[in-house]
Amino acid sequence: MRSQGFEVEPVLGGDKAKDILASDNFDLMISDIRMSPVDGIELLKYAKSVKPGMSAIMITAYASVETAVEAMKLGAFDYVTKPFKVDELLITVQRALEYRRAISENEELKAQIQASYGFENMVAESPDMRKICDMVMRVAPTDQTVLIGGESGTGKEVIAKAIHANSVRKKKPFVPINCAALPEQLLESELFGHVKGSFTGASGDKEGLFETADGGSIFLDEIGSMPKSLQGKLLRVLQEREVRKVGGTKTRKIDVRVVAASNEDMEDMIAKGDFREDLFYRLSVIPIHLSPLRNRKEDILPLVYHFMRQIYQNPEEMPTIDSSAQVLLENYAWPGNVRELENAIKHACTFVQSSRIVAEDLPGKIRGSIGAGGGSDGGSGTEGADGFMGKSLKAFLRQKEAQYIATVISYHAGDKESAAKALKISLATLYRKLPEPNE
Ligand SMILES: Nc1ncnc2c1ncn2[C@@H]1O[C@H](COP(=O)(O)OP(=O)(O)OP(=O)(O)O)[C@@H](O)[C@H]1O
Ligand SMILES: [Mg+2]
Repeated sequence: MRSQGFEVEPVLGGDKAKDILASDNFDLMISDIRMSPVDGIELLKYAKSVKPGMSAIMITAYASVETAVEAMKLGAFDYVTKPFKVDELLITVQRALEYRRAISENEELKAQIQASYGFENMVAESPDMRKICDMVMRVAPTDQTVLIGGESGTGKEVIAKAIHANSVRKKKPFVPINCAALPEQLLESELFGHVKGSFTGASGDKEGLFETADGGSIFLDEIGSMPKSLQGKLLRVLQEREVRKVGGTKTRKIDVRVVAASNEDMEDMIAKGDFREDLFYRLSVIPIHLSPLRNRKEDILPLVYHFMRQIYQNPEEMPTIDSSAQVLLENYAWPGNVRELENAIKHACTFVQSSRIVAEDLPGKIRGSIGAGGGSDGGSGTEGADGFMGKSLKAFLRQKEAQYIATVISYHAGDKESAAKALKISLATLYRKLPEPNE
């Protein structure tokens, strides 16, 4: 082995091998099986417990191949029977080491893929989003059912994936289904499966998504759109932890973590009788609410660059954001939230003329919108599509000021005294600068 360039540590006997295994790191162990007092099998068990990543090749007499097979079951890479040729052993050694390298590369690769579904690919600069990330980290390892709320495009699916990616179920499937996209009968058979002939068109048995997701997570998107009769069936599945195919008689136990999302006000739906209260409480064991993008402006620019990095593989080609464009992006109301921002950036990157994205590169809706949806406009008058350009400087500045004050107040959770301190103005001045309620 040394003549082949390997570093070798020879030891006489299993007990001595145990000592150096515990203290040193080796790529490979080659061991005889019949030894005493500690034999090869016992040594192998020990090696796998203290150094699970290390490969092992066992040497055995022809007569004890059965023991060799046992060694393989215990995780030995291979065995070589005595008497052996040196070349034969060398080849096995090379294979073992190559395999080990492939495994560790594969593990690195898996870690990378996993990272892209975890937080690394998620922008969370605002205090609101930081809190959400903390919550995700805390609920992910549990099997608790999570209900994610928030306007359309706020990132509910992103959060659902992050919960799955940070749970022990991460290597098992994450199965999303949009409950609003299918009519009742199809939705039911998608979720629970069906047996052949259970309805017209059911030409064979079909596995439901709950079964597909077994061991993993199912993401029930737009749960508010689920028809009421199905709500009852879903409730039963969550309670019994078993599913029965449509038209079937047998039930099957399932082990699935449920994450649901809705952009509707569920409590309102319950009040109107459109959603079952008992199901709501089953689903919202842990509620997570995503705030709209207009309330977390700290995320806007980081998101812009996040989306640009996805568009420009080569970072040197990436344009910068001109301040005119930045002002628009940070003050637009984003009714479509992060998704709308993503589209706006795609638009801008398509139309950009130079190495800077300017206001003109943004979609018209955003260019003509400034102040139109803030709710804290500071009374700058009614605005048409060209409100931004047609306004006096004083009105514009006043509007900016009011927006900034409103942001700082919401950052301080509505505490005006702290907001005034942060702005370095008196509380009286702050009140004076706030828009009149009827303005
Ligand atoms: N914090 C974030 N960081 C990076 N990308 C995000 C973030 N939040 C949302 N996105 C992106 O914005 C888009 C919309 O997000 P997602 O589909 O999760 O929203 P949603 O709340 O499920 O919307 P809807 O209610 O319309 O289904 C996706 O392309 C997603 O990758
Ligand atoms: Mg969604």
